[in-house]
Amino acid sequence: MTAKLWGGRFEKKDMDARVMRFTSSIDIDKVLAEYDCLSSKVHVEMLSRRGFISEAEKKELLGALDELSSEIEQGTFQTQGYEDIHSAVQDYVAKKAPAPAKKMHTGRSRNEQVVNDVRLYCRDSVARVKGLIVELQRSLTGLAERTADVIIPGYTHLNRAQPVLFAHLVIAYVEMLQRDLDRLEDAGRRADVSVMGSGAIAGSALELDRRFTAEKLGFKNISANSIDAVSDRDFIAELVAALCFMAVHLSRICEDLILYSTAEFGFLEIGADYCTGSSLMPQKRNPDVLELVRGKSSGLISALNSLFILLKGLPQSYNRDLQEDKKPLFESVETVSAELEIMAGLVSTISLKKETAAKALEDEFIYATDLAEYLVRKGAAFKDAHDIIGNIVRHCAEKDINISDLSISELKGFSEKLEEDVYGLLNPETSVANKKTPGSTNPELVKKAIAGWKRKLGGRSS
Ligand code: ARG
Repeated sequence: MTAKLWGGRFEKKDMDARVMRFTSSIDIDKVLAEYDCLSSKVHVEMLSRRGFISEAEKKELLGALDELSSEIEQGTFQTQGYEDIHSAVQDYVAKKAPAPAKKMHTGRSRNEQVVNDVRLYCRDSVARVKGLIVELQRSLTGLAERTADVIIPGYTHLNRAQPVLFAHLVIAYVEMLQRDLDRLEDAGRRADVSVMGSGAIAGSALELDRRFTAEKLGFKNISANSIDAVSDRDFIAELVAALCFMAVHLSRICEDLILYSTAEFGFLEIGADYCTGSSLMPQKRNPDVLELVRGKSSGLISALNSLFILLKGLPQSYNRDLQEDKKPLFESVETVSAELEIMAGLVSTISLKKETAAKALEDEFIYATDLAEYLVRKGAAFKDAHDIIGNIVRHCAEKDINISDLSISELKGFSEKLEEDVYGLLNPETSVANKKTPGSTNPELVKKAIAGWKRKLGGRSS
């Protein structure tokens, strides 16, 4: 039986093993060891500044906590059997420095400790995930750069819509990830609050120096209300929501890559290192990595859901239910980090099959919008232009011919405004080059976007 942070109130000292197992969170919150240790060091310093412990006691406690830091770093810190990480840290110190350890918990509660630990974890996670996003953005920008001249059919409703540069699509992914990064930073800002000094719910009758603790831990703000401080888990839900957005984005990117790498689309190939084979069908080269990134997004959505469900019915303030917030948080951070990392590698192996893309663009119906806009430039009302080109498409579809199979006189039968130069519109290069609006698939604009991202992202791009 390991030492508890409580006990005086209870006659029977030995807790039922099943209850102990059921209430314990150590298997999950051991992740917080380094943060709990760091917080304890700062708490000890603060206690000494305010005269609650002597200089000698402070030295002993910090010595024990330093030893603990190196054990955590080396992975030798034994946490098994403890109720939670706070008890494990306290007991470690108690074994090294028994007398001063009795004072280490002065003026603090696990209710606030756990919040501060998780806030520190969130801060580090935001920084780590941000770095991984940038790596993936770099990898995508590299892909856009090396495929800058390739045009593919753009899809709406998964039907061919209009020609677009493949790089334009890839830069769309970079934009999506940038919003994710912004959301992450925003969630990070809300996590950047120290709650130490809130006690279990009411604050403390001891003159603790909240500002000192916050500053030493690198927190920007201190919480304003002790009840809110010990029960607020919005910052966790917000971070998981930001990660959830990211997982959904990654899932969508993967879906595109899976589709485009099939024989049916055949626009691109993924490096063999990121594919797997079939135990039965010798010819298979399956995009399992992409499928797993897509599949794992379900875990993120569940994590966000479980957090909201956990929070929605809780009375103020701390309730033990809140112990269940850590699993969805930790799992979300780990899953998204692994996804971002593997995707950055995978993207650098993508090669395009230009011929298949070019073949798909031989079906000239994809230029129908370009033809309608040609008529608008010649003075037609858009509705009339839409009808005229629609009629041409219907006619060609019935006859199973391409638009360029029609002679100019046949075309003039649909509209006098159609001239010889209209045939020049029926190719992918002209279609993209004719786009004028900012943010469009115009090659010059896409090139500028790539250059802009390269500048912004800095570092390597593959
Ligand atoms: N393990 C708890 C949690 O994760 C923190 C400890 C607070 N426990 C308590 N009985 N007040 O929320």
